[in-house]
Amino acid sequence: KTIDALGELRGTRVLVRADLNVPLDGTTITDDGRIQAALPTLTRLVEAGARVVVISHLGRPKGAPEDKYSLQPVVGRLGELLGQEVAFATDTVGESARAAVDSLADGRVAVLENLRFHPGETAKDEGERLAFAKELAALGDAFVSDGFGVVHRKQASVYELATLLPAAAGDLVLSEVEALRKVTDEPQRPFVVVLGGAKIADKLGVIDALLGKADRLLIGGGMAYTFQKAKGYEVGDSLLDTSKLDVVREYMERAERNGVELVLPVDTVVAPEFSADAPATVVAADAMPADQEGMDIGPETARLFGEKIADAATVFWNGPMGVFEFESFAGGTKAVADVLASADGYTVVGGGDSAAAVRTLGFDESLFSHISTGGGASLELIEGKDLPGISILQEDTK
Ligand code: 3PG
Repeated sequence: KTIDALGELRGTRVLVRADLNVPLDGTTITDDGRIQAALPTLTRLVEAGARVVVISHLGRPKGAPEDKYSLQPVVGRLGELLGQEVAFATDTVGESARAAVDSLADGRVAVLENLRFHPGETAKDEGERLAFAKELAALGDAFVSDGFGVVHRKQASVYELATLLPAAAGDLVLSEVEALRKVTDEPQRPFVVVLGGAKIADKLGVIDALLGKADRLLIGGGMAYTFQKAKGYEVGDSLLDTSKLDVVREYMERAERNGVELVLPVDTVVAPEFSADAPATVVAADAMPADQEGMDIGPETARLFGEKIADAATVFWNGPMGVFEFESFAGGTKAVADVLASADGYTVVGGGDSAAAVRTLGFDESLFSHISTGGGASLELIEGKDLPGISILQEDTK
């Protein structure tokens, strides 16, 4: 269901679930990509004369207000980009939310405070989520689901709310799904996947699924050390998930059986401590010193990954190759972004940190076929999982 199917919207209160979960340094937004990505839907609703009520989470507060997770800093930036003053309610439901919504004129926008300040948003118990969703539903006449980054979460504002009001997918959700389908459904080959980032546990499902699909799987970033350890290498003080060593060993065997090229780092940039000015040394991947930690893939690995990516027809990249926030350890991530940017194939940067990395490292977004706003969501889509926030929109609920 699309926004058009909602009919005439002038004067209608439209609740828009966006993902305005942007990285903040104090109250300064360090990457406004997700706010920019919310604009097409919001502008469309404003132009249609709707009274637009934006709801979102920011970070992972534990069901109670915490200043550092307030959406307040996002409101000013959203107003600048929309070219109108955006109202802000200091609570998501209740008195202040009602007042903000009631005073909205046609074509104006209000943002409600962080959804996750209420335990009902993320509650495991369906009844609790539904009760909170009903409070939200009382603030709108229609619902637009446009927070692609959160469609993999079965949460009140993503799932239950869609069952309570006439609901539609927003433009961002539609364009993300369309772009990612080119990777999930019959990708053009060679199909190359580059995975990095710190947490291997978050990527196991996607590796498992890709071992039957991808032609090459390149593994860098913090998660590579668990693979290197599984090969019997010293990894020093690097990130390591010892509970996953057996799983990773099985993946390496399966890759070999399935003819999937699993490419691991051949060299690593190490440092004696995790800091921006720690001295950086390049060592071979099988010769890491026991008292240092891996901070980035080395130049030889960057060259090797570049070679494996250059002739790909489809590339999906998720997760930085190193601690790109520190200049001395950004080389690997920059190198991978560089090859993707100049590759001829269909190139997708999958959400979260890698999307932020591409932008903060100064790459022009138009050099990539698609930059997703969803980290976990795009991975779960690639993995072939059912995304509750999408499937509920396909059901005839209201
Ligand atoms: C993200 O940052 O990936 C999305 O905003 C979802 O956030 P979550 O992982 O805290 O649900």
